[in-house]
Amino acid sequence: MKISIIYHSKTGRTKRIAEIISEGIKENKDFQVKLMNLDEIDYGFLTESKGVVFGTPTYYANISWQMKKWFDESWNCNLEGKIGAVFATGDYLGGGSDAALLTLINHMMVKGMLVYSGGSALGQPYIHMGIVALKDLDADLIKKTKIFGNRIASKALELFGDGDEVL
Ligand SMILES: Cc1cc2nc3c(=O)[nH]c(=O)nc-3n(C[C@H](O)[C@H](O)[C@H](O)COP(=O)(O)O)c2cc1C
Repeated sequence: MKISIIYHSKTGRTKRIAEIISEGIKENKDFQVKLMNLDEIDYGFLTESKGVVFGTPTYYANISWQMKKWFDESWNCNLEGKIGAVFATGDYLGGGSDAALLTLINHMMVKGMLVYSGGSALGQPYIHMGIVALKDLDADLIKKTKIFGNRIASKALELFGDGDEVL
C-alpha cells in the first residue's frame, strides 16, 4: 500500500518529521512511502496512494504560503476518499502550530479526505490533531511521531487492505 507525505521545508525541520513518520509507517510491512517536497510531487504515486500526510512549517500561526499556494493550485488533484493526517513544525509554544494543523485539516476536508490522527481513544501517546514539533527533537517526540505514522498505516490497512494483496 502506498502512502504519500507532502511537505514544505525550507530549513529541513519539517522534512525531518516527515522522515520519522515514514519510518513509523514502514514498521508495518508492505508499505511504500514517498516523501515529496512541494517542488517534487510524484502525481502518479500520489494518485495510487491510499493515504496522504501533509506537513508544514508554521508561518505566522498558519501554514506556509508555499503550502497554501499548492492547495490553491492543486484543485484538480483528486484526493477524495484517501485517509489523511497532518503535522507542523514551529519555533515556540503558543506560536500557532495548532492553528496550522487545523488549516491543513480544512484543506483535507475540502478535498474530501478522511481525517485521521489516532485521537485520544488510542491512549498514550495522545495525538489529538496531529504532530507538532518545536525546535529540537527529543526522544519522546521521535517515539510519538513514529507511533503516529504507525497508527496511520494501521488504519489505512483496516480501511483499504484486502489481506493478501502485496501492496
Ligand atoms: C516567515 C516565517 C514565519 C514564521 N512564523 C512562525 C510562527 O508564527 N510560529 C512559530 O512557532 N514559528 C514560526 N516560524 C518558525 C518556523 O515555523 C520553524 O522554524 C519551522 O520549523 C521551519 O521549518 P523548516 O525547517 O521545515 O523550514 C516562522 C518562520 C518563518 C520563516
